[in-house]
Amino acid sequence: MENRQQWGTRAGFILAAVGSAIGLGNIWRFPAVAYENGGGAFFFPYLFALLTAGIPLLILEFTLGHKFRGSSPLTFARFRRTSEWLGWWQVAISFVIATYYAAIIAWASSYAFFSLKQSWGKDPESFFFNDYLHIAGKPGELGGFVPGVLIPIIIVWIVTLGVLLRGIKKGIERANRIMIPTLVALFLVIVVRALTLDGAAQGLEAFFKPNWSQIGNSKVWIAAYGQIFFSLSIGFAIMITYSSYLPKKTDITNNAFITGFANSGFELLAGIGVFAALGFMAAQQGVEVKDVVSSGIGLAFIVFPKIISEFPAFNGLFGFAFFGCLVLAGLTSLISIVETFVAGVQDKFNVSRSKAVTVGGGLAALISIIFATKGGLYLLDAADNFINQFGIVLAGLVEVVLVAWIARELKSLQNHADSMSDIKLGAWWRFCLGVVTPAILGYMTIQNFISNTKSNYEGYPTQFLLFSGWGVALLALVLAFVFIAVKWHKSVDLKGDSKEGVRL
Ligand code: ALA
Repeated sequence: MENRQQWGTRAGFILAAVGSAIGLGNIWRFPAVAYENGGGAFFFPYLFALLTAGIPLLILEFTLGHKFRGSSPLTFARFRRTSEWLGWWQVAISFVIATYYAAIIAWASSYAFFSLKQSWGKDPESFFFNDYLHIAGKPGELGGFVPGVLIPIIIVWIVTLGVLLRGIKKGIERANRIMIPTLVALFLVIVVRALTLDGAAQGLEAFFKPNWSQIGNSKVWIAAYGQIFFSLSIGFAIMITYSSYLPKKTDITNNAFITGFANSGFELLAGIGVFAALGFMAAQQGVEVKDVVSSGIGLAFIVFPKIISEFPAFNGLFGFAFFGCLVLAGLTSLISIVETFVAGVQDKFNVSRSKAVTVGGGLAALISIIFATKGGLYLLDAADNFINQFGIVLAGLVEVVLVAWIARELKSLQNHADSMSDIKLGAWWRFCLGVVTPAILGYMTIQNFISNTKSNYEGYPTQFLLFSGWGVALLALVLAFVFIAVKWHKSVDLKGDSKEGVRL
């Protein structure tokens, strides 16, 4: 077992973890989520979620991966033989995310090139839905492939699987070493340029102005926790897998703090850049910032093209840089998402890396092309909403309950982390994971359940949601039980609870 691949350096691991965390969630989701949930007042629940759930869970996942040295299924199987299913559930959640995440990166790469000539013309909204996506009339209709989306999706998969085929050090670590510094440098240029535009100050005011009445609203807290989980890549097998490639002697807690703060720092930077640009657009149109803000897909693919068109100079270059950043941020995250199931398959069946990448990654790529159909956008929207609420958050809840309450292993894991790390964990860590996080995630799950059963997400038809929302989330759980029914390859040491890992 000890021929498991390893990161080349500590910096290489941190860059890969940061690369996983910084993704579409930071640039595409965070600014609008923060704005819709109280602007400046959102930072309070956001920071609370980061410090009580985000970083403590990241430390837990780094510790589990390092101690048990396996993909998420192998880690949980070694932790408790009966908890293997949780590892597969997390891997299945990642599988679902990978399929649609690749599609958004593909759109961004098309848009990087569209930016050069502002191909969207005068009506970016109609261009996105009609000319680019060729969107179907209603949810549930597939309506054939759209070549303009299909081709970039295939390219995204070729790049991602190409990196993964080269392994941990030569593939993932090297790709992150190039992509993350490039992303940060490029993004800083964009943010500085956005801040010097007319109207930027009004944009920032809209972003930071606290709406304190929102702070008692449970919806805001749910949004903050949801954002932290997705953005930090916790709850869906990634950080466990990445930390299983750490050398025996390493730091855990400090690495987790660096990763958590780097991710949130970037997120804040994205919020500042995006809102400065929105302020500019509002000023150009003589309207208020609230009239131009939009969330998720709308923000990146409709509002940003408008901003790019109105840019005073070098529009094409600014647009190319913005969408280029989305592509870079997205790719480094997609690599980590796919690595979860590549590692799971490799561990379980003891097959070569290239086989695991070809079969696991290839299957995800194949399923992913469903998002290149005319009905792809509806499917993507539903899958994303349900897999977040009833996948990531729920799997995170099960993880903390299992470790803290069922196995009662928080203390021994703390000892493991402490024996490795400069920063020693205190009782606060066990309190956050054992009490605060389960209570809040439990409440969140109930609320999510109530709101999704009371009314249909986005008003989509029930049948469509049963299939592409609820169905997808349930399928991830069912797949977990299918996988535990399959036997581990006889060479796998399930007792590999690396006692030797607790060396002092
Ligand atoms: N952590 C990744 C993101 O924020 C998945 O997009």
